[in-house]
Amino acid sequence: MDRYAVIGFPVSHSKSPLIHARFARQTGQELGYEAIEIAPAALAERLAQMHAEGYRGCNATLPHKLVVAKLCEQVSERAQLAGAVNTLLRTDSGWRGDNSDGEGFIADLRNLGLAVAGRRVLLLGTGGAARGILKPLLDEKPAELVLSGRNPWKPEEIAEQFKPHGRIVPRTHASLKGDLYDLVINATSVGHQGAAPRLPGQLLAPGGACYDLSYGPAHAPFAAWARSQGAALVADGLGMLVEQAAVSFELWRGVRPQTAGVVEELRRS
Ligand SMILES: NC(=O)c1ccc[n+]([C@@H]2O[C@H](COP(=O)([O-])OP(=O)(O)OC[C@H]3O[C@@H](n4cnc5c(N)ncnc54)[C@H](OP(=O)(O)O)[C@@H]3O)[C@@H](O)[C@H]2O)c1
Repeated sequence: MDRYAVIGFPVSHSKSPLIHARFARQTGQELGYEAIEIAPAALAERLAQMHAEGYRGCNATLPHKLVVAKLCEQVSERAQLAGAVNTLLRTDSGWRGDNSDGEGFIADLRNLGLAVAGRRVLLLGTGGAARGILKPLLDEKPAELVLSGRNPWKPEEIAEQFKPHGRIVPRTHASLKGDLYDLVINATSVGHQGAAPRLPGQLLAPGGACYDLSYGPAHAPFAAWARSQGAALVADGLGMLVEQAAVSFELWRGVRPQTAGVVEELRRS
């Protein structure tokens, strides 16, 4: 049986084994998918071992998404741009690294009927997840894409790096005061500390929507901020989680699974 795994530290919280088990059943494929905890110091050795043991692919979650890129024989262009790898594909002699976050994110926006084209979009956060969705967002042709972080130099550095792919306006959170956006996307991790990013005043235009890459309890603070802004729609990142898994599954197995039923099941649980 072909074997796959999600690797992280810790990893027991991961929903990936359940998601991929559902995808396998739905597409009639026999495969094994497990969660393997790997301490950062053991990552290089364990990845080489997993290759030797015949694993066909892996998902990488925190804290391995950045370091794993350096351990891959090849890295896709989108993973290089993101500076992070979340999907590993076996090659004869090593691993190929890819990043399915951006494609999964755009797929979920489509599921939700959230348009980016012609809209003023604000993206909060400058970590791996934000970097992974920037080019797919630019490809959707927003009227303006503002990237905001809590310090000035990271958005500036990223805007410069992404120049060949389109225009990103770099801003600090504080300097957003007085702006209005049609779509505000939270790609910070601050929800895991029970807080929302510190943002100045009204930022959401009438009828605007908010999307949070975080889900579960980490989504609550940003959801509260979004409601206080009068958001017409507030979405969490559960749909993206399942969509990015579907992209990984397709990279490995050549078939794109349906996601809606799996998202529903996760929400119920
Ligand atoms: N739904 C999905 O499928 C999916 C996929 C990937 C990630 N995510 C979620 O997306 C979030 C970000 O993940 P990541 O991998 O990008 O993490 P990361 O690389 O650690 O980046 C975290 C970002 O949050 C910012 N941040 C942290 N505390 C903050 C605060 N108090 N105020 C303002 N900004 C703050 C950081 O700012 P500095 O750079 O200044 O430190 C950084 O820009 C996480 O909640 C993760 O669970 C969801």
